[in-house]
Amino acid sequence: MDSTMKYQNEIKKRRTFAIISHPDAGKTTLTEKFLLFGGAIQVAGAVKSNKIKKHATSDFMEIERQRGISVATSVMSFEYENTLINLLDTPGHKDFAEDTFRTLTAVDSVILVVDSVNGVEEQTRRLMQVCRMRKTPVIVFINKLDRDGKNRFDLLEEIEKELSISLHPMTWPINSGKDFKGVYNLHDKSIRLFTPNTKAADDDTISITNLSSPVLNEKLGEKDADILREDVELIDGVYGELKVENYLSGDIAPVFFGSAINNFGVKEMLDTFIRIAPVPRSRETNKRYLAVDEDKFSGFVFKIHANLDPKHRDRIAFLRVCSGKFERNKYFHHVRLDKEVRFSNPYSFLAREKSVVEDAYPGDVVGLFDTGNFKIGDTLTEGEDLFFTGIPSFSPEIFKEVVNKDPMKTKQLEKGLLQLTDEGVAQLFTQFGGNKKIIGCVGELQFEVIQYRLLHEYGASVQFNTLPFYKACWITSKDPQKLQEFTRFKQANIAQDKDGHLVYLAQSEWFLNTERTNNPDIEFHFTSEIHK
Ligand code: G4P
Repeated sequence: MDSTMKYQNEIKKRRTFAIISHPDAGKTTLTEKFLLFGGAIQVAGAVKSNKIKKHATSDFMEIERQRGISVATSVMSFEYENTLINLLDTPGHKDFAEDTFRTLTAVDSVILVVDSVNGVEEQTRRLMQVCRMRKTPVIVFINKLDRDGKNRFDLLEEIEKELSISLHPMTWPINSGKDFKGVYNLHDKSIRLFTPNTKAADDDTISITNLSSPVLNEKLGEKDADILREDVELIDGVYGELKVENYLSGDIAPVFFGSAINNFGVKEMLDTFIRIAPVPRSRETNKRYLAVDEDKFSGFVFKIHANLDPKHRDRIAFLRVCSGKFERNKYFHHVRLDKEVRFSNPYSFLAREKSVVEDAYPGDVVGLFDTGNFKIGDTLTEGEDLFFTGIPSFSPEIFKEVVNKDPMKTKQLEKGLLQLTDEGVAQLFTQFGGNKKIIGCVGELQFEVIQYRLLHEYGASVQFNTLPFYKACWITSKDPQKLQEFTRFKQANIAQDKDGHLVYLAQSEWFLNTERTNNPDIEFHFTSEIHK
């Protein structure tokens, strides 16, 4: 392979990741503390005001308004200890889960926040499934130690079991709730005493070379010192030192305990993060393995943001740079359209300000103004004809039939449905052997968005009929005959996605399991590669 190993230093400097959590676990608060460490913001509260309120309201225009603001926070780039960190925001609102899933295809690692009081919650489970599937390295932050949470051993066990991942504690908490005294750093054997709202300083760090040291009794009290000694003995016996390669392969997740709101335990994690988190990684394409340090540029679109405001009807395509150097005003090859395109105003997101960039390197995300040329998964190169793989569509969870209320606008409706689904707002299926159009989404809110946009942008008026399905499974078989039989036999439950791939729409888990058992020659998949 003719790779000239260019831009090594730029690549080595970068870490591109996302923070994920169930709403309310503390993602926004943690993000803010990271930005404070990076000097990207000066005051607490700056991120908060941009946040889509999670319990929000069925008023999607309000959510859209906030989402509009959140374009600015879609990517937050900042420097910390000579490392350039690209933090990709993921919407907490569950109706935008699909956005989050896609963002996970553009990062090299994630930090998962778990609320120590609530433990593993629904959204956590779903997001971690995606991480496991992609073997994304994960660091876990157990938050809100200042509140009376679950027993920490139980919590670790719960996380391991529920998320099917092995954990490796890096710090260990001393009590919780009002008795929370701090964390013991298992790696460098020091204790940080808890003080609410620390500024980032290390002033309260005490190095303990030996756990039997009387300093421990003095600082923690005899009882807590003894508990810590016992805990640490147990943990050291079970876990030993972290093997970074097991973290990088996605098999083991290092765990930190802390309190985001008090900025406690955050710096320990951030310091470890920049030490062990993966640098931008090489990626698979449909043609060949593409090394991150090849000198030619390549990248792909993982998210498209459309502005609903009629006065600013612009779209921004978010492109992750995978190799080489992205340059302003340079012509690149849009592989799907087989067309040369260039960008005069690409955005970067340094320090949370959108600003025009001249160039960008692997791991960076650039925002491209788009007039409808892009769809999710599109690849740009310097001429080579390839697509990045590993950008799946995920099964929707709510399905509705599209009913055209204005037959005069059929053409507009079809165009609108195609474009909106290219943007990734929803997935479009067509009934097998029929014409019925079915929209699949993760949240109810999307249907309102689609209805509104079809009317305002395409002049098409629709109504939706809810369908009794709970999952779409892409079906394949080594035996074409068997697939054909199944498709014919189950016609009422079969549809095709936009690329003509067959899906089985299951009414319930029970139906799905029954079909799986009865049809061992058919494979059921919950995701589908955009580029096969
Ligand atoms: P999210 O982005 O994951 O949805 O969570 P967010 O950071 O908004 O945090 C959810 C709530 O939990 C917030 O309270 C936040 O202040 C609180 N929180 C975050 N970290 C900690 C922590 O370490 N300890 C405790 N006790 N609380 C924490 P809120 O009441 O919803 O918002 P606000 O009124 O404080 O802004």
